[in-house]
Amino acid sequence: MSGDLPSSGDASTDEQADNHTQATYTAPDNSHTQNVLPVQSTRTESASPSSETSNALAKITNRQAVDNSPQLSPCEIKQLDKLLASAPYPAAVSIDALKVIQQQRGWVSDTSLSLLSAYIQVSVAELDSVATFYNLIFRQAVGEVVLHPCDGISCDLMGGVEVRAAISQKLHINPGETTPDNRFTLIPLPCLGACDKAPVMIASKHVYPHLTLNKIAQLIDELDGDKK
Ligand code: FES
Repeated sequence: MSGDLPSSGDASTDEQADNHTQATYTAPDNSHTQNVLPVQSTRTESASPSSETSNALAKITNRQAVDNSPQLSPCEIKQLDKLLASAPYPAAVSIDALKVIQQQRGWVSDTSLSLLSAYIQVSVAELDSVATFYNLIFRQAVGEVVLHPCDGISCDLMGGVEVRAAISQKLHINPGETTPDNRFTLIPLPCLGACDKAPVMIASKHVYPHLTLNKIAQLIDELDGDKK
């Protein structure tokens, strides 16, 4: 990935202030550096997709168009300005700025990372290292609901292995994959800090404790229904 954008020490305070008040910012053309992994699935797609499948594919296409917008939106700029105004130096807002981008776009593409880098004056390499360190910042496209079942030892001892297998079986995806309708992505995480409630899973900002095989099937149906 290119890291040729200026770091926080390359621009004067005045220049940064000017940058932070602009209405929009257009990303440099870095399409040659794009390394977005395709969404994978183990499902077999038919040669003639149903209307349901076509709708899902159209939805994914539209979503990706938004995800890779070459401009920061006014909403994103407003939130970034607010973060920068209260930070002692630009790099201090890195994780929160990445969350802003992910909240608006669903994930952080290379294009989004370059936009953010240029706007908050933190290098692409630095932002990428922060994004890579945090499990909940996604550097590839994910579904509308990301399931994070715990794969820590306490949860595994309490049935976590079977719970994760049940999720994969119900959704027909393996860890790291997204369903063809772009609804669910399965990303197990190590200890979620709720071992006394094992086995647990985080999804849609909620912690689901004491999961069982029956509970997990019902829960996925409910999460699916929430998004329809
Ligand atoms: S091992 Fe699962 S929450 Fe700690």
